[in-house]
Amino acid sequence: MTAIVFEGEPITLDEGETVLDGLLRLGHSIPHGCRSGVCQSCLLSATEIDKVANAQTGLSEAQKQLNFFLGCQCLPTEAMTVARVDADVSRIKATVMEKTQLNDQVWRLRLTADLDYRPGQYVTLWRDENLARSYSLASTHEQPWLEFHIRHYPEGEFSSWLVESLSKDDTLELNGPLGQFFYTAQSEDPMLMIAMGTGLAPIWGIVNEALMKQHRGPIEVVVGAKQAKDFYYREELGALQAQFDNLQVHWLSLDSDSPETANLYDYCQSNFSQLSDHKVYLCGGTSFVKKLRRYAFMAGASMRDIYADTFIAFGGEPG
Ligand code: FES
Repeated sequence: MTAIVFEGEPITLDEGETVLDGLLRLGHSIPHGCRSGVCQSCLLSATEIDKVANAQTGLSEAQKQLNFFLGCQCLPTEAMTVARVDADVSRIKATVMEKTQLNDQVWRLRLTADLDYRPGQYVTLWRDENLARSYSLASTHEQPWLEFHIRHYPEGEFSSWLVESLSKDDTLELNGPLGQFFYTAQSEDPMLMIAMGTGLAPIWGIVNEALMKQHRGPIEVVVGAKQAKDFYYREELGALQAQFDNLQVHWLSLDSDSPETANLYDYCQSNFSQLSDHKVYLCGGTSFVKKLRRYAFMAGASMRDIYADTFIAFGGEPG
């Protein structure tokens, strides 16, 4: 057991208990989301910086200098003093510009906010102090909005709120941008980008940025879905493909009556068997990304050239 002090109150953490879990167990209202060190919604600050260094992965230098750390990643072994972070320090306001349904389950949300980011990074959106989810940025800097593709889970608290209650001109808060999933290729590099479902969001942003930066190497985009009706942005990607000779888009579903029926994994193994000089971008669920990462590596891609963005489950609702 470890004793800590939280905003003046002595607290004893159980063996193996994170700071976040201990504070929640004792009834403190601490914002949190993924509990995986991804969304940064559980930011806290510490007086003793050396005791939280291992809970600062992914934080900016500015955040580290403020002694911020992630409560869900902090397992103290000795006494320390912690406090909540003023939300104004870490979040900015955003306004809903547009909310559009793209298919049965996926909604496009466009927000206006003053945010410096790279397409493909993600931010955490806040409904209120206690509910937040992380989503990838599908927009580019040239667009006057931040774009997100959000899958609606009927049991999901955040996505249901977004679909049922959030309206144009409403405001919400966000923090970020976060993550290293963005365009880093040299102009001639071949790129293979594989997305499942709303994994298309960051891929869409990165493809647009690459083409805007006049990427000349071949760009192969593989989009997978369980059913063909789950595809979205077909026209948009088709228009890009018609405009740029170096872009090829492959649509794969498991529908037995669809001409595009194919197992995505088998398709990639057959069609992209040599990836030794490629930049590879993968976005989807955990097992999908894990399997595709192994395939890309076995096909010759260097681990440092494989970029992965994985949906993290937030209380049953992937972000
Ligand atoms: S990073 Fe701690 S709850 Fe998401």
